[in-house]
Amino acid sequence: GLCLMQGVALAAESALDTIQKRGELRVGFDSGYIPFEMTSKKGKFIGFDIDLGKAMAKAMKVKFVPVNTDFDGIIPALLTNKFDIIISGMTATQERNLQINFADPYFYAGQAVLMNSKHAGKITSYKQFNDPKFKVVSKLGTTGEMAVKRLLPKAQYKSFEKEADAALEVMNGNADAYVYDYPVLKQIMQKQGSNNLVMLEERFTYEPLAFGIKRGDPDFLNWLNNFMRQIRNDGTYDRIFKKWFES
Ligand code: ARG
Repeated sequence: GLCLMQGVALAAESALDTIQKRGELRVGFDSGYIPFEMTSKKGKFIGFDIDLGKAMAKAMKVKFVPVNTDFDGIIPALLTNKFDIIISGMTATQERNLQINFADPYFYAGQAVLMNSKHAGKITSYKQFNDPKFKVVSKLGTTGEMAVKRLLPKAQYKSFEKEADAALEVMNGNADAYVYDYPVLKQIMQKQGSNNLVMLEERFTYEPLAFGIKRGDPDFLNWLNNFMRQIRNDGTYDRIFKKWFES
């Protein structure tokens, strides 16, 4: 931001300079959004977003430092300098964009439904869950939760802090449907499909995922957008994409 002193506008230091001086890029995310950010058996953070963050740190010639944070508090954590950037499958919503800046989208998601198999064939659209007899789940503080409240206001809603717990609730029949980002549900379906789960392929929201940074830092934003254009065109993005989505 700008700070006015004796009528002279002084620009605050760009995060780009802070990162370079520190020699570290601190990346905030909430592990469990598979395959974007997850924790390996050895306790390492891995995934599509993690690899993008590593490529970013490499291009800046600094160390990559992962900072795992609850999604619900991820914007306040960015604003209080717990890390430099959010790379967490975050949808660039207009509401969030009032608080933070987003670089150009790096992925497109959209809400879909994973339902208990007892509804197979009978339910063909998410809209049918807009009924008080149904229990719908999603994750706290996400666009999935916002979509349920906006589009399925009549359904009973229960929110979970972890993606895996929301999925479990539908698997064991305690809930009817899980509304969440398509790629994550697709991943659960591939791994757990035989466990009483059926997916509706329809995507009923438009959700560009983007890197989030603090407002008032055009230098950092410019760097990120040029970084993205470069890796989209030099094979880096495709290689990382194939690693997490096509193997
Ligand atoms: N795209 C959704 C949102 O922005 C969900 C993101 C959740 N990310 C995570 N790393 N758990 O609200």
